[in-house]
Amino acid sequence: MKKFVKLVIDGKELTLPVIEGSEGEKAIDIRNLRQETGYITFDPGFGNSGTCKSAITYMDGEKGILRYRGVPIEQLAEHSTFVETAFLLIAGHLPTRKELTRTSVYLNDFSPLHENMKAFYQNYPPKAHPMGILSAMVNAMRSFYPELLDIEEDMNKTYLRLISKIRTMSAMAYRISLGEKVVYPRPDLCYCANFLNMMFDNVVIPYRIDDDMVRALNVFWILHADHEQNCSTTAVRVVGSGKVNIYSAISSGISALWGPLHGGANQAVINMLEEIHKDGMTVKECLSKAKDPNDPFRLYGFGHRVYKTFDPRAKIMKKMCDILLTKIKRKDPLLDIVQRLEEAALKDSYFKDKNLYPNVDFYSGIVLRAMGIPTNMFTVMFAIGRLPGWIAQWKEDVADPEMRISRPRQIYTGNQLQEYIPIGDRRYVPYPKNALNAWMVTSISSVDISRWVTSLK
Ligand code: ACO
Repeated sequence: MKKFVKLVIDGKELTLPVIEGSEGEKAIDIRNLRQETGYITFDPGFGNSGTCKSAITYMDGEKGILRYRGVPIEQLAEHSTFVETAFLLIAGHLPTRKELTRTSVYLNDFSPLHENMKAFYQNYPPKAHPMGILSAMVNAMRSFYPELLDIEEDMNKTYLRLISKIRTMSAMAYRISLGEKVVYPRPDLCYCANFLNMMFDNVVIPYRIDDDMVRALNVFWILHADHEQNCSTTAVRVVGSGKVNIYSAISSGISALWGPLHGGANQAVINMLEEIHKDGMTVKECLSKAKDPNDPFRLYGFGHRVYKTFDPRAKIMKKMCDILLTKIKRKDPLLDIVQRLEEAALKDSYFKDKNLYPNVDFYSGIVLRAMGIPTNMFTVMFAIGRLPGWIAQWKEDVADPEMRISRPRQIYTGNQLQEYIPIGDRRYVPYPKNALNAWMVTSISSVDISRWVTSLK
């Protein structure tokens, strides 16, 4: 039975329909609100706003549940591979053997890069962050591979081309940053083994494929493959809503993921742990800094917009940490700090009261270190894993007849009508509180000014 809620605004009663999801989540449909009342809703960060209906990923932040197309993340991490999970997310069902073989053939066929793309890398400054390079390269794919057709079969090839090439592009960025020879993909290796080989094979020390490392990488990427309407996925949907090509939409997702509050948190966690290790900061000092509202420091890897209990991915990641470190017979001093931080934070009332628990990134850096992945590649590893999710969400968005171009409203708080003042009549107004304006004023030297004045004449 259809449900409705009543809203009374300025004495006028409005009846709004309720939408209910397959797991009982409820939303009030406010699409006619502004038209009928003149009001809009105010929800910075979209914490209470549903921006789409989606059949891809279900998560329950209170119970710590995550499922892709209904399948629990724990089962996928135990039994699936990254390629199979990618298929599940994009196609909507687990592949048959034939479908999986066909997918692997395409992934293999698409794995080499256009040779001219290498020139891009070679001209980047040596210290450029690989996330910046990756987002530019994915955007450039539109020019290198312009064949995008609306036919389902061709779009499927585009998805697989992206999934295959992002792995080659990422490994290539790493090799070139080291000044080392690029390693090409091998047709005899599976997706994850191929990536590790492209990263680490060397003419002097050939890389030995280790099944446990390959399994760990599969699990790492499965855990990152989708997370419903997070920051980067929302970026992909918003940018995609303007009907831009898929490569540009995905490239914007990569840029959004880079931030330390989102995918960049895995790198931020390791930087934080290294600082603690190097400076000898105690766990207590670290937590005090994180709790101080006047200190921008946060306990990276803790807290989540949706999870108000343990992130189920963090539990799996923690187990993987133990397996890998036992396997490589190495003690990572950062693991000890992570464990002590977690234990102390979970007992601390600040973290308990705010429901701040470890998220996937708290342990993922240690796992990546155990695989030999350098810190500045961590967020790239996340991006490769998240790609199937972005593709699935983009695909769902463009096919949704209810979707419109993303165009939120705002509450304007600026000046009311002002008359234009001719430049000779303007008064200098200092901007002490506005950082950007203050920067603009103080950073312009008299040399710059005289140069501009000359050029204006
Ligand atoms: N350390 C210290 N305090 C924290 C932390 C943290 N890691 N996370 C949240 N808080 C505090 C906030 O200061 C805020 O306090 P207040 O109510 O006194 O102002 C309160 O908890 C609520 O936090 P918000 O930032 O409002 O929560 P929000 O849902 O907007 O942010 C986020 C979630 C960005 C993940 C936040 O918890 C955070 O910054 N965590 C650290 C970064 C991180 O690990 N990001 C990875 C997220 S998972 C992912 O993207 C893969």
